Formats: sequence, C-alpha cells, structure tokens
Amino acid sequence: MRMPIIAGNWKMYKTLAESVSFVQELAPHLAPFNGVERVVCPTFIAVAAVADALKNTDIKVGAQQLHWETQGAFTSQISPTMLQGLVEYVIIGHSECRAYLGETDETVNKKAKAALAHGLKPIVAVGESLAQNEAGETESFVSGQVRGGLAGISAPDMANVVIAYEPIWAIGTGKSASGDVANSIIGMIRGVVRDLYGNDVANALRIQYGGSVKPENMAEYMSQPEIDGALVGGASLKVADFTALVKAAAESKGV
Ligand code: PGA
Repeated sequence: MRMPIIAGNWKMYKTLAESVSFVQELAPHLAPFNGVERVVCPTFIAVAAVADALKNTDIKVGAQQLHWETQGAFTSQISPTMLQGLVEYVIIGHSECRAYLGETDETVNKKAKAALAHGLKPIVAVGESLAQNEAGETESFVSGQVRGGLAGISAPDMANVVIAYEPIWAIGTGKSASGDVANSIIGMIRGVVRDLYGNDVANALRIQYGGSVKPENMAEYMSQPEIDGALVGGASLKVADFTALVKAAAESKGV
C-alpha cells in the first residue's frame, strides 16, 4: 500500500512570520492523520524557521526549487547541500518554473539527480497545457516529460521519487480535471514508469494529482486507485482547508 502524500506548495505566499505562525496553528490539526504523509513547502526564506517550528512533529518540510551544483557562482540559487537537514522534499519542474524560469526536462533531470544524490526526495511535476490537452497531445507530452525528468535515475533511487501530475490548465484556475481523467493520466504515467523500471518500482511509486484541489473535490481524487495524494497550492494556505484535504485523504484511503 502506498502511503498517501499531501504537499502544500506555498509558492510566493506568506512572510517568514506568517509561515511560522501558520505551521504552529496547523500542526495540531494535522497530528491525528499520521497515515498520510503531510508536507509543507514554504519559500526559501522561511524554510529553516518552519523546519524548526515543526521539529517535534511528523509534518515534513519541502523546498520549492534547488540548483544541481553544490556551490558556485550561481547568484540567487540554493544548492542541495544547503537544503540537507532542513527539508526532506523538494518540488522540481513545477509548471510555473518551466514557464517563467526556463526549467526544461534536462534541468529537471539534473535537479532530480542532484536532490537524490544528497538524500532529498524530489517531487517531479509534469503536466500539459490547455492547447496540448485540446490537441490530444497529453499522453505523448506528459510521457516525454516523465522519461526526460527521470533519465538515468536508478531503480533504487525511484523509491524516493514522487511524481505530481498537474495539468497546467487546472493550476490556480478553479478548473480541475475530473477524478476519472486524472486517474487515467496518472495510470498512464505509472505505465511509463513500468516500461522503464518494471512492476515493483511502478507499483511502489507515489503519484499525486495537482491543480485546483480543494476540500470539495479532494475525495473525488483520493477515491481513485492510481492517485496517491495531492500537490496543492491555494488550498494549502488556509489551516481549515489544508486540514480538510488531509482528513479527506485519510478517509478515502482508509488510513
Ligand atoms: P493550485 O496550485 O492548487 O492553487 O491550483 C497547485 C500547484 O501549482 O501546485
């Protein structure tokens, strides 16, 4: 049984003080649901303080980005060694980074490998645009992102990888893929991983859905057999909503 994983991607929201007070309020609400892995991904400026605030809880911290080099003349960047000990997860290849920061399958791959080499668990985000979706290109495009992002990653390392399927047209738009559609694309992604690594790795891999996930639609996703959790933006910024998402995941998966 794959442990469900709900990760809150805070994007560029919350100051340092807001981030800390938020997790202090959130932690007791999430405490009962320890059958679900719960992760918060604050901005870099708040990562250390949030990690400290959560150190006596089982809520995990993730970063939203990293560079593949351990150090160097890379103004503005954060390396895997800087994140070691502070975070367990790191989101890589979010569509906003692909769109605004020039992230490509090649840089996603370098970052995923660098994360794994430093004991960090990458959440590799993939997903098609509205135009690709309407042109019937979802399967070919998303499977290409999966193959490109995972190139050269070993089967044992795949135990520490999470994939997030986030159709770009559903992110922050209020439009979301139906549970059935999300389940079938995620099943397709698992099939690509099966091709690459075989049954054991594919069956153990956790794949999240992301894109306008809210308390009202969470059970629809979590009741799908292929969907192992959610990568959540907007709804992860409110204590009541985040709690409702985790509770819905725990109930739907019976954990
Ligand atoms: P959203 O964002 O939940 O606000 O749509 C999801 C994401 O970008 O990870």
